[in-house]
Amino acid sequence: MASLTTAVSAFLKVVALGYLSIQPVYASSVPQRRQSLTRPNDLPAGWSYAGCWVDNAHGRIIENTQPGNSGLTVESCIATCAGQGFSVAGMEFADECYCGNRFVNGATEAQTDTDCNMACAGNAGEPCGGPNRLSVYSSLSSIPSLPVPTVQTTNLPGNFAYSGCFTDVVNGVRALPWQIIWEGNNTAVACMNQCAAFGYPVSATEFGQECYCGDTEDLTENGSTKGADSECTIQCPGDPIHICGGVQRMTTYTWSGSLNVWHQPQNTGFYEFFVPGLMAPLLATLGVNNKVAFLEKAAGTSAAFPNSTGAYELDLSLVGDFSREWREMHTKTDIFCSGSVILPDRAGRQINVGGWSLQSTFGVRLYTPDGSAGVNGTNDWEENGDILKLQRQRWYPTAAILANGSVLVIGGEIGSNDKPEPNLEILPKPVGGDTVVNLDWLLRTDPNNLYPFVTVLPSGNVFVAYYNEARILNPNTFDTIKTLPNMPGNVNNFLAGRTYPLEGAMVLFPQHFPYTDPLRVLICGGSTPGPAFVSDNCVSIAPEDPNPVWTIERMPSQRVMSCMVPLPDGTFMIMNGAKKGVAGFGLASDPNLNALLYDPTLPTNQRISILGNTIVARMYHSEAILLPDGSVLISGSDPETPGLPEETRIERYVPPYLNNGITPPSFTISNHDWAYGQTVTISNVRVTTGSISGVRVSLIAAVSSTHGNAMGARTIFPQFNCAGTTCTITAPPNANISPPGWHQLFILDGSGTPSHSSWVRIGGDPSQLGNWPDLPGFTRPGVGAVTIPL
Ligand SMILES: *[C@@H]1O[C@H](CO)[C@@H](O)[C@H](O)[C@H]1NC(C)=O
Ligand SMILES: *[C@@H]1O[C@H](CO)[C@@H](O)[C@H](O)[C@H]1NC(C)=O
Ligand SMILES: *[C@@H]1O[C@H](CO)[C@@H](O)[C@H](O)[C@H]1NC(C)=O
Ligand SMILES: *[C@@H]1O[C@H](CO)[C@@H](O)[C@H](O)[C@H]1NC(C)=O
Ligand SMILES: *[C@@H]1O[C@H](CO)[C@@H](O)[C@H](O)[C@H]1NC(C)=O
Repeated sequence: MASLTTAVSAFLKVVALGYLSIQPVYASSVPQRRQSLTRPNDLPAGWSYAGCWVDNAHGRIIENTQPGNSGLTVESCIATCAGQGFSVAGMEFADECYCGNRFVNGATEAQTDTDCNMACAGNAGEPCGGPNRLSVYSSLSSIPSLPVPTVQTTNLPGNFAYSGCFTDVVNGVRALPWQIIWEGNNTAVACMNQCAAFGYPVSATEFGQECYCGDTEDLTENGSTKGADSECTIQCPGDPIHICGGVQRMTTYTWSGSLNVWHQPQNTGFYEFFVPGLMAPLLATLGVNNKVAFLEKAAGTSAAFPNSTGAYELDLSLVGDFSREWREMHTKTDIFCSGSVILPDRAGRQINVGGWSLQSTFGVRLYTPDGSAGVNGTNDWEENGDILKLQRQRWYPTAAILANGSVLVIGGEIGSNDKPEPNLEILPKPVGGDTVVNLDWLLRTDPNNLYPFVTVLPSGNVFVAYYNEARILNPNTFDTIKTLPNMPGNVNNFLAGRTYPLEGAMVLFPQHFPYTDPLRVLICGGSTPGPAFVSDNCVSIAPEDPNPVWTIERMPSQRVMSCMVPLPDGTFMIMNGAKKGVAGFGLASDPNLNALLYDPTLPTNQRISILGNTIVARMYHSEAILLPDGSVLISGSDPETPGLPEETRIERYVPPYLNNGITPPSFTISNHDWAYGQTVTISNVRVTTGSISGVRVSLIAAVSSTHGNAMGARTIFPQFNCAGTTCTITAPPNANISPPGWHQLFILDGSGTPSHSSWVRIGGDPSQLGNWPDLPGFTRPGVGAVTIPL
């Protein structure tokens, strides 16, 4: 926008100058031509007169325009230029001063020296150029001169080729969506490189300093047409022998071939209505009882649902039977906006921490899932802030399980849009101890770092991504071991961020036996601070590579408040969110209704498939989680944006692998409690498609979904061997590859169709969470083996 104004005002200036320069009659304030003008001889040492030169035959011939000066003299202009370190000074039209170190735009000398016969505005006896004539002085013996700029058509990066001089701002509409202003240094090549890096096949420069990126469809959709090459004449400020557009004209280059391949499979799978809800949940967790636990703001905070009890559980086996499928549960304090994770204890308890406001921000809430298919559990959320609470107030914290089995709680603010809580703490808190560790980088990046993304790396160190930064921490001291490069943002703004409120989503690339590949993290979506330009890319990095670099992959549409769901076949659904704005109440619009599938086994920039569309806007406070049958549950949307509902409807996405008419494979398992490296047998393995040798095995770690943060997410393809009707699976080797916790075990047949999942715990409960908290009113499952039923 800024540059549109700049462009227009500059355009007006060019028109005005043209008018004044060509008209024979001048305003009375402009000095008249004189017959006898004398050049000064009191020039600074080394400076001398270099002739009267023609300006604007093909653009300005000296590059740096100084402000108009009604007191201009030859001496003052030279002093200005010399003072700025320039070696060439030119006076034009009585009161204009130009500085440079060379001529550009194919400068030629005037026919006669007397063309420069306007008196200086500040000295009626001296010549200061004329209309389109420059009196030029220089400290150089010979002034370098660049030719009239031409369109660069050779040495173009990648597969770019010149497409022509295109019109811009037709009927007030810009042709290309992404604008970059590179005052003083824009070049056609730099613009092409920048566009290509972010996946845009069209690169266009305009008005010298402007670079635009987009798609060929944008040109046609926005009415841009190809004009005569002669309409693009402005030199590139960073490369003055080449042309960077004109006034509302774009020197346009197009990448031939595909910069991104977005697959459009025939079988996209589909969204479907799943179940009517009771509220708009802000946190969803599939429990080890195979029921979905939802958490929602407390009655006082939830304007739309004043009778909210804060917690509800959905029995997936009863979907379709509204009077029986929901169980109302209760929280004592307000879980808005908290973090959750499933503990590695033998009962698979869910822990929820933080909230809003005051005592709720200290909240530590525990639920021991119970009941069974068709039978309500009786356990409820347990909390008692008098005896069990966080050490710091946290609104928007992340929870994670460390390799040693303790719980990490990190970040947040002391309340809604309040002071930062730039630190972490560990649960359980030792008696008399304090486990708070201050983190200066969270302080520095507040408030764009909330709900930071956290994961344990194969080295045992801890990765954290927050705002547009990422680093690796020592898991004992939480000192920084390595600062990673900043995450690339948007093509037009490197400062785009990825955590609330610039909210994207993070998952981990699958880890395959023998677990020797460096772990890669994938973060999709985000937005910019200030004017919210929503990101249309995913970035990924292997943090423990010797020289880690972020890879940028463009998505087919912009998305903030994205949710990502690890599927059992190692792919990821990308869904929910908006195309405009940032996360928060009333801060986004234009819902993104399209689901994507990201397949990390495909080559970079060819990994995304465009799947189905929903009719339900899933904005702020929406979630997406994997169900036991391999489909995806989508819930929530609490945007507080006029025209967009508080969404109670729950949908399901049936991915392509369940939309193929194939009977899912099946298996039975008796060992639900795996030690690291242990070999476990599953039996009655049955596939209806392909043979047993085509079977694959995956482990999807338990996830709590809130605010784009899939807390706990991890995908493991363990070592296995199948023969006859049994498979032996070797558990991942250690807690760094796979921190202690619960996983959904799937098998997939040769067609990629998943079985239903069975829950297994891997790595036990090394932090003895099962004995915690030893306080009245809390259930403690103990630290023994997992017993089924739980
Ligand atoms: C132009 O200069 C700015 C400011 O130094 C810099 O950020 C930008 O990367 C430069 N652009 C090019 C194309 O060199
Ligand atoms: C140009 O057209 C595209 C459709 O291809 C649209 O998405 C985009 O917003 C338009 N750009 C501008 C700046 O209006
Ligand atoms: C909450 O109250 C609304 C009316 O205000 C009602 O429609 C809804 O069924 C109630 N929900 C629950 C869970 O009681
Ligand atoms: C579970 O409890 C809820 C009350 O919270 C009730 O409405 C529902 O019918 C019960 N479901 C079953 C299967 O008993
Ligand atoms: C796990 O590591 C954290 C951070 O060093 C520490 O505070 C905690 O006590 C450890 N847990 C156990 C069970 O050793």
